[in-house]
Amino acid sequence: GRLEKFVDELPDMPVLRGYGVAEGGNLVAGELTVGMHDTMWKFHRDLPATRVFAYGASKETATVPGPTIVAMKGVPTRVTWTNHLPPRHILPWDRSLATARLGNATGVPTVAHLHGGVQQSTSDGHSMAWFTSGFAATGPHFSSPAYEYPNQQPPGNLWYHDHAMGLTRVNILAGLLGAYRVVDPATEAPLGLPSGAEFDRNLVLFDRDFMRDGALFMNATGNNPDVHPQWQPEYFGAVVVANGKAWPFLRVRRRRYRFRILNASNARFFRLSLSGGLRFVHVGSDSVYLARSVPTEGFLLAPSEMADVVVDFAGAMHDAVTLRSDAPAPYPGDPGEKADTVAVMKFVVASKPEHDPSTVPATLMPRYPKPDAREAVVTRHIAMYEYTKNGTDEPTHLYLNGAAYTDPVTETPREGTSELWEVINLTDDNHPLHVHLAVFTVLKQRSLRRVDEFRDCMRGSASGGAGGRNDAVACGMQRHLAGGRRHVVPRQERGWKNVFKVRPSTVATLLVRFKPLEESSATASGKSGGFPFDVTAGPGYVYHCHVSIKQRKPLLNSQAPSSFTC
Ligand code: C2O
Repeated sequence: GRLEKFVDELPDMPVLRGYGVAEGGNLVAGELTVGMHDTMWKFHRDLPATRVFAYGASKETATVPGPTIVAMKGVPTRVTWTNHLPPRHILPWDRSLATARLGNATGVPTVAHLHGGVQQSTSDGHSMAWFTSGFAATGPHFSSPAYEYPNQQPPGNLWYHDHAMGLTRVNILAGLLGAYRVVDPATEAPLGLPSGAEFDRNLVLFDRDFMRDGALFMNATGNNPDVHPQWQPEYFGAVVVANGKAWPFLRVRRRRYRFRILNASNARFFRLSLSGGLRFVHVGSDSVYLARSVPTEGFLLAPSEMADVVVDFAGAMHDAVTLRSDAPAPYPGDPGEKADTVAVMKFVVASKPEHDPSTVPATLMPRYPKPDAREAVVTRHIAMYEYTKNGTDEPTHLYLNGAAYTDPVTETPREGTSELWEVINLTDDNHPLHVHLAVFTVLKQRSLRRVDEFRDCMRGSASGGAGGRNDAVACGMQRHLAGGRRHVVPRQERGWKNVFKVRPSTVATLLVRFKPLEESSATASGKSGGFPFDVTAGPGYVYHCHVSIKQRKPLLNSQAPSSFTC
């Protein structure tokens, strides 16, 4: 049977305040406990409740997505993450991957990462810092389940999600994700954007498949069953879920609303638009406000990417406005392929006109530094290329510059500096690249020429073995760039971000900033130009593509080895 659309109302997730208020009104650090719970969640009126893994302050209040954590800029939020998950996973967990190893223990390894957060690497949710219920088993980088988020970063939209080695894709599918805001009333209130719980909402989107009995469905046969019996690098579900409800509806008034939209899908891209000619005005992207607002008719949102938009329903011609997506899955799909439009949710617009006190100023946050490529102290070339093992057709692993996750760290930026990263995508898929700790600006994207030749050269290193490793520079990347077409970076993606969609057969040039956007926060900590903490302590940080979990290898830090998966 088919599920009827637009029968459930869009919920708001519970809010957890990430700061405390002392007597006299001073703000003090917030202390939260957020558990991962084995519970049931109702995704649709006509679907039996679904067994999920959900974040919540308690099992009774756990939701999918989890509670929205609201943090105050400059006021630390301490979260103790607790794992109450059962001995066995509810979804297929392919043990043939590089994954959390439990030895003789049972349980579900988890570790929470605050995506877009600037925090010590011991609080960053390193993929090997996982732990199971009761700490029966812990990963090699586990130190403590008590994390501190300094929130010494500009106001903006973040999210938290599971990050465990080899399990991130299934733990997120099971429900372990939620929104996080850093707010700064002093700089945000004067903007006059729609505000308050009714008019300023998080919209967390993802796709899922369900069984008739309500169970989450995930195909348990791998693309390369001989190598990885269950692993599928991408997941696409037929049901679009917004704030935990399948195709919900929201009654809105004839005025402006702000939506902080997150694509929390494992692999589905959303190319969003509104029916009836309504437009979006972008005010922010992932983690940072834009300098000026950008109106669009629609936009593409990759897994893990965020768009902070205002929609003015005063201009609605009809009382029903649909939010829909027409992105192919997988993205970009075959050339010329026309994607079916899928509904996401419906707005039911009140007929009565009303006075709207909110505005969207043309100028938002112009005081963040303008990107300046001359600041870069290093240029790195990072090539993503997929390899196959044992003569299988489907790729089995993705390496960066021919190097595996377990290889030594190659990116060791110095705090307080900026770097140019030329990110080269030699695969057939669009890869949303995410860098922990840093923010970046996309300076340009260009097509590569003679890509097959480039790939052949990279393949020379397929073993990843020492010695004969080819990287982008060795493979003559400059030659492949010469004369390549330039692709426009959409205006709403030209600010400071933490995710960028690297198209197939292109190079994206990123200016990556390993220092705060606001120098004042560094000065306040007594350090010049650096982050307000010691980035060299702990297991380091990773960068990776955010499509399920695909590749291995990356990242960065001043010293300690670190890494991850894509
Ligand atoms: Cu969204 Cu490594 O994270």
